[in-house]
Amino acid sequence: MSWEIKEHTKAKHTILKNYLGAWFPIMAFSNPKIIYIDGFAGPGRYLNGEDGSPIYALKIAKEIFERFYQRLKDKTFVFVFIEADTEHYESLMNEIKCLDIPEQFKILSVNKSFEDSMKEIFSVLDDANANLAPSFAFIDPFGTKGIPFEIVKKIMSYPKCEVFINHMVSGVTRSQYVSDHSSLYGSTQWINYVDKPGGLTYFYSEQLKNEANVLYTRSFEVRNRKNAPIFDLIYATNNLKGLEKMKEAMWKADPSGNFVFRDKTNPNQLVLFELEPDLTPLKNQLLRNFAGKTASIEEIERYVLIETPFLKSHIRQKTLAPLEKRGVIRVSRPNGSRKGFIEGTKILFPAL
Ligand SMILES: C[S@@+](CC[C@H](N)C(=O)[O-])C[C@H]1O[C@@H](n2cnc3c(N)ncnc32)[C@H](O)[C@@H]1O
Repeated sequence: MSWEIKEHTKAKHTILKNYLGAWFPIMAFSNPKIIYIDGFAGPGRYLNGEDGSPIYALKIAKEIFERFYQRLKDKTFVFVFIEADTEHYESLMNEIKCLDIPEQFKILSVNKSFEDSMKEIFSVLDDANANLAPSFAFIDPFGTKGIPFEIVKKIMSYPKCEVFINHMVSGVTRSQYVSDHSSLYGSTQWINYVDKPGGLTYFYSEQLKNEANVLYTRSFEVRNRKNAPIFDLIYATNNLKGLEKMKEAMWKADPSGNFVFRDKTNPNQLVLFELEPDLTPLKNQLLRNFAGKTASIEEIERYVLIETPFLKSHIRQKTLAPLEKRGVIRVSRPNGSRKGFIEGTKILFPAL
């Protein structure tokens, strides 16, 4: 099989690298052991020489480990690399051998399917009545097979675990008449969403929330510059810091490059990730949601983090300050504060 890096792969890598640069230190600082799971690991290197996801995950973790050595020297970083294809698996093993890996890094590599490997891991944990340590699972198949929803649900049942899934929407749509995808979605209802724009990703996210009790999901669509959809990436977490960092990773993913990244969480409101984003949807959403109410800056920031694709840095100076200047909102600041939106600031929004 040729292993050329495709455009879409680069887009995926950019986001994942951005996110892991934040996830590794945040999680390692506060936990004795953390796990990076690469469920469809690949051969470790592309034909053009670019690193595959397991290799750059190791490199990013190592760079962070060395930078914060004093704080991290007693921590354990576990890497679970799962690759079903034997040729790819061997190639990956050779790539790993070339790296100089700290002794605190433990690598568990498995030449089996994602489903079987995860079931084995769960069975060991269940027998020991133990939890999976805080984990980030990157689930990156070629197609639509081999990712039962039950496995994703089980990962998300452990504390501090997250998943980042490459949801191959086009594969499901193409094969809707010949394949049953109920296992992927954990429901037979997927068929009702195939023809709705953004429907399958919306349904997957709803399944995560309703069936797997996930608190926060965010999905992103990657298109090429010809505007053809390539895939949707779905992120699920129960942690607000993770959510914040994943959104930042998306916004950082080179908006001037060959791809268009769009927030897909709400199919009715597609927001493009750009260097100079259009913040009109954020302004409108705040005016609608808080109409006639007084809200603290903290409440507004929490709302924006959870319910919108926008970042904290989009709120105070870029959205609220212009609204105040135009007299649309009234701002009441804590004693001694005359401008800005420091903690304790309250904002009165006009009624609709
Ligand atoms: C899209 S590639 C992974 C690329 C890799 N994550 C990266 O970014 O460098 C998918 C890989 O999954 C492997 N694979 C296919 N079916 C699998 C399964 N059921 N379980 C685990 N690996 C599988 C393929 O051999 C292939 O190497």
